[in-house]
Amino acid sequence: MLGEDDSWIIRYFENISDPRDLINLGIGEPDFDLFEPLKAEAERVIRQGLNKYTQTAGVPELREAIAEYHDRRTSASINPDDVVVTPGASNALFMSLATIIHPGDVVVIPTPSFPPFMSLTKILRGRVVEVGPLPGSNFQIDVRGIEAALREGARAVIVNSPTNPTGTVIDESSFSRVVELCRGSGAYLISDEVYERFVYGVDYISAAKYWRDDDRVIIIGSFSKTLAMTGWRLGYMIVPEHLRPSIIRLQAYINACAPSVAQYVALYALRSSEVQRMIDEKVAEYQSRRDVFHKALTTQGISTHLPRGGIYLFPRIPMDLDSETFCNRLAKEEGVVTVPGRAFGKSGEGHFRATLSASPDRLVKAAEKIAAFTARVRSR
Ligand SMILES: Cc1ncc(COP(=O)(O)O)c(C=O)c1O
Repeated sequence: MLGEDDSWIIRYFENISDPRDLINLGIGEPDFDLFEPLKAEAERVIRQGLNKYTQTAGVPELREAIAEYHDRRTSASINPDDVVVTPGASNALFMSLATIIHPGDVVVIPTPSFPPFMSLTKILRGRVVEVGPLPGSNFQIDVRGIEAALREGARAVIVNSPTNPTGTVIDESSFSRVVELCRGSGAYLISDEVYERFVYGVDYISAAKYWRDDDRVIIIGSFSKTLAMTGWRLGYMIVPEHLRPSIIRLQAYINACAPSVAQYVALYALRSSEVQRMIDEKVAEYQSRRDVFHKALTTQGISTHLPRGGIYLFPRIPMDLDSETFCNRLAKEEGVVTVPGRAFGKSGEGHFRATLSASPDRLVKAAEKIAAFTARVRSR
């Protein structure tokens, strides 16, 4: 059953081999290319010979720039020593969980959410407790549900705002309450913030706002989506002081360091106002795609909430088909690739995820095809 093993995504994409005019809304990455100034910087860095191992925790200037970035964005006060630069957020996620959980430990995961949260917990022999969203809230986290799960003695909670797949931005009171609850129960809070730049007209709340060096909060960030460099593998984690030695040891054994060229390019990106402006332009483009696709779907009678962040829509399946069957048939019969909601946890069933990484024209075309498919299935 989808969502209960790790191979669903491999199986799923294997089934879709027909190369005709596919509209691929299945992929979780931006469709824009690495910005030109960053390509130029990469060339410069390579020619300058910065191609060797870096310090295990990352290039010191980059760690400083990441701390400053969070300080500026959320009036936090992060010590650069707390930043560990990693080969992608995925790796930071694995190292966090590997450091804090022991076999049998409970990890509370508000769902629908990024599938590796559940898969990595299981691989590390932890126990996943899914907490579905607050009913009727457009996927806001259910703080009371999290509180109840914490009472059972959970070791960690993983939040992700803006959320993949729903685009939900956790509101300030829920966020601060979850931090408080974790503090009260001694659980770690892992806050995956890889979509932090993709917010549309609301305040973005980061766990950095609640940061204390002696605490149990772990912040995970990435350059993958913001700089459209998913293939470069660069992310980071901000970890409390007591976890740092274990994380650095793991990093030394597993990765030695994050990719050197990517680190220098990310440093340039954080310090360049031109690149920061280019990111803002791309975010504005995503916001307008969100509006176009949302309107196209709702006009066709396909109900979907308007997310405040992220790079996806998570519409309701407008017929009596489970999400895996719906997505498989939609791909085969209409050439529109989406991801079944069930992959994101039990509470994702009844929905599908479609990325906004396509031109507005293609998004409108996809909405028409989804509507045509829906009408055909309903008329039978
Ligand atoms: C919520 C979330 N966290 C982490 C990642 C992985 O990011 P990275 O490419 O930095 O490993 C993704 C990628 O889709 C994601 O959606």
